[in-house]
Amino acid sequence: DVGKRQRLLDAHKIAGEFFRAQLLTPQAAAGRAFLSERGFDREAAEHFGVGFAPQGWDALLKHLTGKGFTHEELKLTGMFSEGQRGIYDRFRGRLIWPIRDIAGDTVGFGARKLFEDDQGPKYLNTPETSLYKKSQVLYGIDLAKKAIASKRQLVVVEGYTDVMACHLAGIDTAVATCGTAFGAEHIKVARRLLSDDGTGGEVVFTFDGDAAGQKAALKAFDEDQRFVAQTFVAVEPSGADPCELRQRKGDEAVHALIRSRRPLFEFAIRTTLAKFDLSTVEGRVSGLRASAPVVASIRDGSTRMGYSQELAGWLGLADPNEVLRAVKGA
Ligand code: GTP
Ligand code: MN
Ligand code: MN
Ligand code: MN
Ligand code: MN
Repeated sequence: DVGKRQRLLDAHKIAGEFFRAQLLTPQAAAGRAFLSERGFDREAAEHFGVGFAPQGWDALLKHLTGKGFTHEELKLTGMFSEGQRGIYDRFRGRLIWPIRDIAGDTVGFGARKLFEDDQGPKYLNTPETSLYKKSQVLYGIDLAKKAIASKRQLVVVEGYTDVMACHLAGIDTAVATCGTAFGAEHIKVARRLLSDDGTGGEVVFTFDGDAAGQKAALKAFDEDQRFVAQTFVAVEPSGADPCELRQRKGDEAVHALIRSRRPLFEFAIRTTLAKFDLSTVEGRVSGLRASAPVVASIRDGSTRMGYSQELAGWLGLADPNEVLRAVKGA
């Protein structure tokens, strides 16, 4: 109910303030060093509410119980793990990003370890709670929503640091999923912002080179090809993500990455073709066989026809009929 929800939101707000204050302590030196190496100054850290979870088992627990929260309430926040002797801090010795909903209320946290040897995964997030639904949450949406609506563009990046880098570079339409693929629920959130008057907009995915992201994008938009937005993919040839790119080459390189976007279907077909040696007949035959199903999956007839013709060109075939037959048969 509403009262309980507000208690949970209050706990998150107080925890966020606690983590931010901790970032200024001597214990958080490695956290501050990480941020500055990534090109994030103090002002940037504050803008995104970055904090630090201290080492130990009960720093946050003590702080929140001191503010009147019961263990029963705290269990529902996802900020604590439960052992035989009760609950203890889930996030320890990690850099903390508050994950805020579209209204700007903190509903969860993402936490990165600072040393390779530290235990646990590189990133640890809030588990599913009544506030935090990872299939819907988009990190940065509170800061990006206005720009998304006015520019009719949504940029989807992979990580918290990538969202920060994009916004600082002036790509203020950037958001990230939190350790999960962009899926149907995220599309609904995006659609509401992008197309309230039905004129659509564009979605640009960036991925750091690996195939996982591309697959995820295809899957998401296979589920919803009537999505009013047009979908693009931008991949940096070196495999760098936006944060690395900005660190190495500056803000303009991040803009250049987004400008280099290609339509999702083109990206998917050309990525498929790249696996074959198109200088041989055998390679072209195999390439056609592998890419025809991708073209065939395009629901819009004109677009499918257009890509059939493009594919003939990419394969170096003078007669597009062979491609059309392959696509029809796929
Ligand atoms: P940084 O060194 O922090 O820049 O990470 P990266 O660029 O190598 O991150 P990567 O591209 O692997 O991951 C991007 C995003 O995926 C992160 O911001 C997390 O949200 C998520 N992620 C990465 N690793 C993990 C993990 O071990 N567990 C979970 N739950 N999420 C992860
Ligand atoms: Mn990684
Ligand atoms: Mn990756
Ligand atoms: Mn990175
Ligand atoms: Mn990355």
